[in-house]
Amino acid sequence: MKTNHKLLELAYTILSLKCLYPDDFVNSVFQRFVSAVLETKSDTFQITPCDLCKLRKRCAVAEKMLEIDWANRVRKSVSPKKSLLSFPYYDNYLSLASFEIGLIKNFKKASKIIFVGSGPLPLSGILLAKSGYEVWLMDRCPFACFLAEKLLTKLGMIKRCKVLQQDAFRFSNYSDFPIIILGALVGQDEKEKNKLLQSILSNTLKGSLILARSTWGARRVFYPVVNTEWCKPCDFIEEFRPKDPKLVNSCVACIV
Ligand SMILES: C[S@@+](CC[C@H](N)C(=O)[O-])C[C@H]1O[C@@H](n2cnc3c(N)ncnc32)[C@H](O)[C@@H]1O
Repeated sequence: MKTNHKLLELAYTILSLKCLYPDDFVNSVFQRFVSAVLETKSDTFQITPCDLCKLRKRCAVAEKMLEIDWANRVRKSVSPKKSLLSFPYYDNYLSLASFEIGLIKNFKKASKIIFVGSGPLPLSGILLAKSGYEVWLMDRCPFACFLAEKLLTKLGMIKRCKVLQQDAFRFSNYSDFPIIILGALVGQDEKEKNKLLQSILSNTLKGSLILARSTWGARRVFYPVVNTEWCKPCDFIEEFRPKDPKLVNSCVACIV
């Protein structure tokens, strides 16, 4: 089957799934969908904007459910560190973290980071902390924060990663952080994400680094795109795309 037909068929299978909680079937549908999106040469989908929006929401819910499932597995495991390595997208997170750490080192000499929208399985934050950063993890969802704290305690990382239950749109202390990473699922569409970026930009100290996860091409089915035109008041802004073809996110770096 041609990639685009396969992609559409999988997209409509996802739209028709009754439950998104991970099981063998749901995992296999999403894994095949991610592969088909990465393989397609086309930038667009032949589905209506309304279905595309529904699809993005379903992918976000499935991502969070997968994280909840794995946060529980890891914290209940007798060997949690080993169990974390079996998370199906572990290698992707590792690759994305090393790409982002490379960008951070290029732009900012500081060690305190806030990761906004860290989720129940805060792998990005864990990998940043393992590289020596002092990491604050922000999530508005109480259950995500509860699971993240349990998991970090079990992994012996709670002193290196602090969890903060807070809505990114209401947080007023961004200026305490020289480095801010904005997760891909914060802001449900382009407009909301860019509105949040504007508000962060006006609440940070001069010289701070903001890394906003974005995406491009067909990968937009998973996450909203950060429009660099909307972040005018900063000294530098550029989108960086990782070389690793299995990665879904690009990263917009802004220096305030
Ligand atoms: C599925 S997780 C993905 C993060 C992933 N674990 C990582 O390390 O990159 C996305 C999280 O973003 C959180 N989130 C979405 N909007 C937010 C907001 N406005 N403020 C804080 N957290 C938010 C959600 O509650 C969810 O737990």
